[in-house]
Amino acid sequence: MKKFIALAAAAAAAFAIEAGAADAVTGATMKVNIEGTEMPKNVDAVTSASVVPPKFRQSVKPNGFTKGSKKVRVLFVVGDPRHESVEWDLVNTAMKHFMDKGCEVALRDLYEMKFNPVLTRETFFQAKDGFGKTPEDVAMEQLWVAAADYIVFAYPNWHDTPNPMVKGYMERVFQKKFAYRDTDKGLEGLLKGKSIYTIMNSGWIGRGRGDVGDGIDGNAIWDKYLNAFKVLDDDTAGFWGVKSLGRFCNDQTPANLSKNYGKEIEALRADLVKHLDKKFKYTK
Ligand SMILES: Cc1cc2nc3c(=O)[nH]c(=O)nc-3n(C[C@H](O)[C@H](O)[C@H](O)COP(=O)(O)O)c2cc1C
Repeated sequence: MKKFIALAAAAAAAFAIEAGAADAVTGATMKVNIEGTEMPKNVDAVTSASVVPPKFRQSVKPNGFTKGSKKVRVLFVVGDPRHESVEWDLVNTAMKHFMDKGCEVALRDLYEMKFNPVLTRETFFQAKDGFGKTPEDVAMEQLWVAAADYIVFAYPNWHDTPNPMVKGYMERVFQKKFAYRDTDKGLEGLLKGKSIYTIMNSGWIGRGRGDVGDGIDGNAIWDKYLNAFKVLDDDTAGFWGVKSLGRFCNDQTPANLSKNYGKEIEALRADLVKHLDKKFKYTK
């Protein structure tokens, strides 16, 4: 223990020197918080993040893809480190609904898998130009994508874009010669017949639940955000040759300590299911 404290102190001191050096170079006067405060033991009770109370949590096991199946296959690519979040509750709700409708569901839980999302110099030209051998972890994910009819990306809104895990998955897995290729007429998407969809829980994106047009009282700010996300989704879909089915976004999350939590989370789940029924076909 003493050794650990000494090491920690040494590390903090080294960081202080680094931070000090950066201070000298940047001219910044702000003091960085290198010592921090104690992590609260009851973090779930005091965090500003969403936490589904234990009695309302659902645990859903995907039924998986089976060889030669004629069922609709839905691949969930999830980037959220906290299984107790509302984002995960939406993922569980959607996975269960697809299974109830007779689909096959597979899950890539990127944090749990410790997926490496970083496109490095060593792997850049392989992803960019298709030169060389596809890295093994990427090749494995490509098999999941190739087998799917629908690919559902799910992540909490961290600065209005796919978070690094999901973005890295897109960069590394949907690479040239797998998701698109060069032709005389320009890029051609190679994943025709598949569709993509996104489930994104948010703090505040104008107040609403669903996609473009689903803002509370038809407010314009919601549509401004959702139309911006639509530009991203449509562009990505065009690149890969897939269809974008849009998004389910929500910024009306029940308060963690709400007395009506059960009713409110059920209403959120029901709204998601209604959207899925509008956008997806459950048989081929
Ligand atoms: C690093 C970080 C960045 C965030 N950026 C945004 C943002 O740009 N817009 C927003 O609406 N919420 C933002 N949020 C808030 C989260 O979207 C919000 O906490 C939401 O509840 C996340 O879903 P979850 O609680 O189900 O994980 C951010 C949260 C974090 C941790």
